[in-house]
Amino acid sequence: MATFVLAHLSDPHLAPLPTPTPFELMGKRIGGFVNWQKRRRHFHRADVLERIVADLKSQAVDHIAVTGDLINLSLAAEFAPARAFLERLGLPQDVTVVPGNHDTYVWSKRRHPQQHWAEYMHGDASPADTPPQFPFVRRRGPLALIGVTTAVPTLPFSATGRLGSAQLARLATLLDEHAGKFRVVLIHHPPQTKPEWRSRRLTDGDAFIAVLKQHGAELVLHGHEHFDLVRWFDTPHGKVAAVGVPSASGTVGWKYDAAAYNLYAIDGDAGAWRCEMIVRGLDGDGTRIVERRRMMLMAAK
Ligand SMILES: [Fe+2]
Ligand SMILES: [Fe+2]
Repeated sequence: MATFVLAHLSDPHLAPLPTPTPFELMGKRIGGFVNWQKRRRHFHRADVLERIVADLKSQAVDHIAVTGDLINLSLAAEFAPARAFLERLGLPQDVTVVPGNHDTYVWSKRRHPQQHWAEYMHGDASPADTPPQFPFVRRRGPLALIGVTTAVPTLPFSATGRLGSAQLARLATLLDEHAGKFRVVLIHHPPQTKPEWRSRRLTDGDAFIAVLKQHGAELVLHGHEHFDLVRWFDTPHGKVAAVGVPSASGTVGWKYDAAAYNLYAIDGDAGAWRCEMIVRGLDGDGTRIVERRRMMLMAAK
């Protein structure tokens, strides 16, 4: 079977931020707006994102996964530009999206990602005229892409995520049903994070890891932390890598990793998969997009 190439980008936090109305700034958004004005707009840059997307589009890629935080404050005017961004990436059948906490920043917008980006979140089996349901499955080549949502509105100064027992139960079933495929779980929040990220963690991460351990998966892709890192989980079926990718719009010189996206070259078969990860992103001085590192995640024996 030919090598299947999956690209993963996340957390574009699209700029520029539209001007919020006074009404929109009431409540949680005011803190996020001040943070955007003081810090985040200097880090998340549209020109950086354009270069990342141009480099990705120059690669021979079979599918693109986007793991949330497309926008910043879930302002009403942010959803359509994010839709246009997805359309620049590709057709809905070639791009799979799960939402992040910044896409459901406030309670009134908790269903907006599903409404505005629906075609990018539909499972193969779900009718096109119904709202996407999580988790969903898309079969592409040897892959079963399983998308879950951790995006729930939270209190100010909190960016936690939650799957909930219903999603976890359905995820377990879907992992079983697609055993033998190369199962890729797409999730915004990392399964685990550093202690100092407690206010930004996946609150039922332990339950998520337990499902992975019991039912198996080949790869977990997440965003949220804005760092290039790999965490490994031991399961009875072997090691599973959970890979975080930096923000696709981050410039150099901040506490987060500069912009990157990942490519996964996947081939082989059940029990003998081969998966190589290639990280492409801004170089040290932010002038060029280069291959930053390469790592074999699974090597056929
Ligand atoms: Fe983010
Ligand atoms: Fe996030």
